Amino acid sequence: EKNLKVALLGCGTVGAQVARILLEDANELAARSGAGLQLIGIAVRNLDAKRDAALPQELFTTDAPGLIAQADVVIELLGGMEPAGEYIAAALSKGASVITGNKALIALKGAELNALAAANGAQLRYEAAVAGAIPILRPIADSLAGDHITKVMGIVNGTTNFILDAMDTTGAAFDDVLAEAQALGYAEADPTADVGGHDAAAKAAILASLAFHTTVSSEQVWTQGITEVTAADVAAASAAGYVIKLLAIAERAEAGISVRVYPALVRRSHPLATVHGAFNAVFVEAENAGDLMFYGAGAGGNPTASAVMGDVVAVARQIAAGAPLPNGSVSQAPRLLDFEAI
Ligand code: HSE
Repeated sequence: EKNLKVALLGCGTVGAQVARILLEDANELAARSGAGLQLIGIAVRNLDAKRDAALPQELFTTDAPGLIAQADVVIELLGGMEPAGEYIAAALSKGASVITGNKALIALKGAELNALAAANGAQLRYEAAVAGAIPILRPIADSLAGDHITKVMGIVNGTTNFILDAMDTTGAAFDDVLAEAQALGYAEADPTADVGGHDAAAKAAILASLAFHTTVSSEQVWTQGITEVTAADVAAASAAGYVIKLLAIAERAEAGISVRVYPALVRRSHPLATVHGAFNAVFVEAENAGDLMFYGAGAGGNPTASAVMGDVVAVARQIAAGAPLPNGSVSQAPRLLDFEAI
């Protein structure tokens, strides 16, 4: 059995859960992957930050490049453009596979990084970048690869849905609810990415790129956030039978592709109106499949870690099935006796 050296970059809300799962479920993950997954280190910015005491302290390091140099698989959960982008490029360049939840980076540099992965025989996966726990990128990229997707529409930011939902159900003020969303670990490090619609725009760009087999960058997404939505707006919408939801919509239009993010009035009877808290929901319309709907936890440590781990197992399975390991390392050829006698 191959033993894959796994480097984790970042130990925040999601990273800490990924580390926990890698350590707690090591045997089960190895059995499912066909390869051992050995967590060789966790790169963090500050060694003194308060951490989960259950994680072995000797795994922590501030030397991300040193860790990447030894790794077969790199999990990037630092977020932000740099140094995350530089680290991912370094890993892919040496043939290591990368799993990331970094929507901002993928939405701007996805095409470049995918090309780098392909050129080096490495895999780049980012299911966790869009809609937290919901499996949505693989269904779009793989399951629907033989269809024509015409529209993708949904709620893809948990923080803003949590805020709008609380404003709708309790009449709470925007700022108080934002603080609560931050405390629950839903919001980005800089919550303006959430409330300004930029996080949803990045996700919309990734969804549109995969759905329409093209490259849509977050800069091309028409974006309006929820910062201007007042308690009075929410009350007026409610009185008229609507709820305000931040929607991301990507569709094929006559002139090309339209990708936009904005606070929309959603009729109470619409399924999207029933998406509460930090949950997300994504509708996909395809010519042959018809309408599909995906629903689940869109933010938070454990749900997002689930998506990361799914990608880790997928990467490991592919490597176990024969994809080369980086650095020219080769796995041992199976001895004759390892084959089952039939
Ligand atoms: N801040 C993001 C959200 C986290 O609220 O949806 C998940 O991508």
